[in-house]
Amino acid sequence: MNRWWLRLTHHVAPYTLRISVLVLLVLMGAGLTVLMPWPMKLIVDYVLTAEPLPENLAWLNILTGTTETTGLLAWLVFSTLLLFVVNRGIQVLKAYIQDGVGNRMMYSLGGELFDHLQRLSLRFHNQRQNGDLVRRVTTDSGCVRELVMGVYLPALTSLASLLVMFAVMWYLSPLLSVIALLAAIPLPVLIRLLTPRMTERTYVQQEYEGQLMALAEQTLTGLPVVQAFAQEGREEQRFRALSRSTIKAYLRTITAELQFTVGVSSATAVGTAAMMAVGGVQVLNGTLTVGSLLVFLTYLAALYGPMETLAYLTSSYASASARARRVLEILDEDQEVKDAPGALVLAAHPSGQVGHISFEDVSFGYESGREVLHNVSLDVSPGETIALLGPTGAGKTSLVSLIPRFFDPWQGRIVLDGTDIRDIQVASLRNHISLVLQDPFLLPLTARENIAYGRPEASREEIVATAVAANADGFIRDLPQGYETPLSERGATLSGGQKQRLAIARALLKDAPILILDEPTSALDARAEALVLEALERLKQGRTTFIIAHRLSTIRNANRILVLEEGRISWVGTHQELIEENGLYRRFCSGVTGDRLKE
Ligand code: CTP
Ligand code: MG
Repeated sequence: MNRWWLRLTHHVAPYTLRISVLVLLVLMGAGLTVLMPWPMKLIVDYVLTAEPLPENLAWLNILTGTTETTGLLAWLVFSTLLLFVVNRGIQVLKAYIQDGVGNRMMYSLGGELFDHLQRLSLRFHNQRQNGDLVRRVTTDSGCVRELVMGVYLPALTSLASLLVMFAVMWYLSPLLSVIALLAAIPLPVLIRLLTPRMTERTYVQQEYEGQLMALAEQTLTGLPVVQAFAQEGREEQRFRALSRSTIKAYLRTITAELQFTVGVSSATAVGTAAMMAVGGVQVLNGTLTVGSLLVFLTYLAALYGPMETLAYLTSSYASASARARRVLEILDEDQEVKDAPGALVLAAHPSGQVGHISFEDVSFGYESGREVLHNVSLDVSPGETIALLGPTGAGKTSLVSLIPRFFDPWQGRIVLDGTDIRDIQVASLRNHISLVLQDPFLLPLTARENIAYGRPEASREEIVATAVAANADGFIRDLPQGYETPLSERGATLSGGQKQRLAIARALLKDAPILILDEPTSALDARAEALVLEALERLKQGRTTFIIAHRLSTIRNANRILVLEEGRISWVGTHQELIEENGLYRRFCSGVTGDRLKE
């Protein structure tokens, strides 16, 4: 992971101008901070003592236009005010630009990551936790902001102010400068010594907080199960136990931080005392003015900030780089399913018969070493309806998932109208396929938007007509706001059968030449199933259709029935043949899939 930041530069480059302005502001700010104690010094040294200004400061008299001490005082008071206002102004402007640019960089990287994630294969997503991926997109993408605004810019600010302060100190009194340096040395040492402990404890605390969040989230997601098994008490116990650990960890973190603060202030106090002693003697000797001593003491207090920043730089860098690693790990993930160079774009509105699909000796599995489909060969004519039947886990869903290239086969190929589907542009292939998934996933949009998801430009009439065809119109109209009713996440406010009919409407509206239905009627009773089947009869017209079902009633009208067992096609024939082949029918009725195949 060397030079990881080189791979993020394209998220920084567009802001070069604004970052340059930021650098300028930083340098101006450092200069002003150094100037801050000077009016006070001049007041103490020349106004209060009524001493004339030394030659190298005589130009001040020209500025004020008077040699009167009151005039000088008024001018110095005014310049203090001015310094303060300008310094604040610069800081506000700096914070504004810094936050703006920082967030833009973060969301630019977050956007790239989100886009990439969406395009990664379902195989990848099956193996990952959504929560973790969400954190990478929304939080870890802040690494680029952290790097620029948390490492490079603070490094520049701190170095600039330290250098300028030391130069001024050296000019005033080399001896005191050395003391200031000695007083400052314990700071980085302390930071080095105590930071690992603080980091470690903060990490433990964050771990506990993460666990607490995960527990709350999991319990709320699985609430029906928790309530059904009356385990609220146990979950509460777990929550309380975790809370106690979190509090303990938090207190340990605080203790470490307090130790650090005490150490730092002791070092500063010792430094201040030493400087007061040595400086006091110098003032008595007349080798140093009171005002200069004041400047020194102010600088000593101001040294702490930049030195702390510098000492933390490595850990800020480490944190940014750890996050960047989590981001780049995903960006490096190869998009398994992607367009081949020169991929064929299918015609949006094909003329003539389309939808001729052949599986040629296809083998496939999800993880290496465990093949799920073995040497499947199948030729489906355009407009034909194929029913897939088979025990649970036989590979029915896997087989149809290969057609829209959710996964690519390990071996063999799938050919659509003469072209290997791997040579077809993925988006155009998927535009040719309407899917009703086994688990009809709905998005948190309105009923109308859900139906029109694949064709957002569809008119309201088309949407309603489709819903009517899918026998969904009735229940949608009964929803509180009809078609405009927002559905909650995953359509939790609908019944299983209603969700299925909505998903069928969604597939219907897409109007694609290939139709894949994975148990579209599994959640329906006989009457509702009859309604959906009637809708499907209309939908299937002229389309190549794959329908997976457990019930014979669902597949009665299929042209061919295909029985899949343990990833192999074990039987192909018509409904009539299936009934006549007594053995097979009996086998289905009595064992493998239970009695669901009975009519
Ligand atoms: N499988 C897997 N990883 C997945 C999905 C499935 O390893 N992401 C495995 C399952 O464990 C199963 C095999 O692939 O052994 C076939 O699964 P699937 O095609 O989903 O079976 P179906 O025939 O669709 O089963 P069901 O009737 O239960 O839907
Ligand atoms: Mg399945």
